[in-house]
Amino acid sequence: MQIYVDSANIKEIQHAASMGFISGVTTNPSLLAKEDPSTDIRELIKNIHNTVGGHTSVEVISTDTDGMLREADEILSWFPEATIKIPFIPAGLTAVRRLSDQNIPTNVTLLFTANQALIASNAGATYVSLFMGRLDDIGTDSLIALQDTCEIWDAQGLESMIIAASIRTPIHMLECAKAGAHIATVPYKVIMQSMKHPLTDAGLDAFLKDATKIKM
Ligand code: E4P
Repeated sequence: MQIYVDSANIKEIQHAASMGFISGVTTNPSLLAKEDPSTDIRELIKNIHNTVGGHTSVEVISTDTDGMLREADEILSWFPEATIKIPFIPAGLTAVRRLSDQNIPTNVTLLFTANQALIASNAGATYVSLFMGRLDDIGTDSLIALQDTCEIWDAQGLESMIIAASIRTPIHMLECAKAGAHIATVPYKVIMQSMKHPLTDAGLDAFLKDATKIKM
């Protein structure tokens, strides 16, 4: 399972990318809105893409197909490798089909069921983003939706890549990998939490202390 950073914060993205295991970044309007209001969004997104060098999903904010396609053109003029992130609404699926027919990668977002993911895949989505945390927030077991999706993908041999999104905890990340998601897009904080183990820290402290007693 590949790991993406779910963030629009350049410092977080730079640090995550510097560790060498990040394959991409997903942004959304809410993540961008958390950044300094004076930020030039186009420059920020180009900077994010140059920092990671892999997948970069940029979300459209239009709710009609023509508007989405215009925005896609604009984003692609910033960098041609962009993946266009499109909400799962009927107008969005039309846009996904049009972009897919031009071999432009798309990431269909705001998916909460395996059926939605299946439909997005049939519309030509390159990536389907199934949200975990937001399902758990309303008392619905997100793992069941993800397991259903992965099972359907195996049974049908579908090509779209499954992104587990809305990841809130290291346990989510573990469950996504076990279920067979191709990618998890993970907030920086959860990436750092997933790396932390007290025995790793204590073990390193002991090695460094003992290293002062030996001659190299
Ligand atoms: C990813 O593509 C989504 O934008 C993101 O994971 C949403 O996460 P949230 O539910 O924590 O806002």
